[in-house]
Amino acid sequence: MSGSAAAGAPSGHPAAAAVPAPASDPIAELKGIRKVYNAGTPIEAEVLHGVDLTLARGEFAALIGPSGSGKSTLLNIIGLLEKSSAGTYRLAGTAIDALDDAALTAARLATLGFVFQFHHLLPAFSALDNVAMPVLIRDGRVNAAARARAAQLLADVGLANASDKKPTQLSGGMQQRVAIARSLMLDPPLVLADEPTGNLDTASANAVFELLRRFNRDSGTAFLIVTHDPRIAARCDRVIELIDGRLAPA
Ligand SMILES: Nc1ncnc2c1ncn2[C@@H]1O[C@H](COP(=O)(O)OP(=O)(O)O)[C@@H](O)[C@H]1O
Ligand SMILES: [Mg+2]
Repeated sequence: MSGSAAAGAPSGHPAAAAVPAPASDPIAELKGIRKVYNAGTPIEAEVLHGVDLTLARGEFAALIGPSGSGKSTLLNIIGLLEKSSAGTYRLAGTAIDALDDAALTAARLATLGFVFQFHHLLPAFSALDNVAMPVLIRDGRVNAAARARAAQLLADVGLANASDKKPTQLSGGMQQRVAIARSLMLDPPLVLADEPTGNLDTASANAVFELLRRFNRDSGTAFLIVTHDPRIAARCDRVIELIDGRLAPA
């Protein structure tokens, strides 16, 4: 008696996509991630040997480990800037392994913010235009609402008076604060920061760290922060340690 009821989805049900994901859904879920550079050549090197890592929404985590242990490689894979050689990765519930380049770019813009050790601000643009850059990339234009948000973010990082300044007119700590404002422009659920305080003096490093902490508290943005500085790591809610391409037991 299988005939009549089986065909087609029941009508009148909301589409699955309209149901909000439960808050406990991880923002990032990596399983068995491997990374091989220069595969098939004499200098082939596997630098990640099967990493399993789950990042919860709203988490504030440090990623530590010796130089060369694979921290940047792992961050770049999580950030969709590099592909893994094996393993599976779900970002905000989406299996990214099957996505083409256009879909990866869209997922990156919608889900991720980036802060690097060197700020990568565009020298010809003002601080405000640098903060608004993700909107320009996404939409091809920056409307008044986006400019207002960029101005608010600059105020949030203590640079309300620096909107019109070019990056070279700002100190290293100020440039990094502009980069943090830019990383938050599209309100991503996850920000990846690769040694964001690595190039700063202690006082500026503290100010930058406190900003990240505050944005995490106030907006629920999850952060994964690569750091060499044990004092910074100790002030994160979770410390993830990478040794020779493997996660140390928690
Ligand atoms: N594009 C690349 N090509 C070849 N080897 C690389 C590349 N990027 C990183 N590596 C190597 O992978 C290892 C891990 O590098 P990385 O992820 O930058 O470590 P960390 O950020 O922990 O210092 C290092 O041995 C590095 O030399
Ligand atoms: Mg690195």
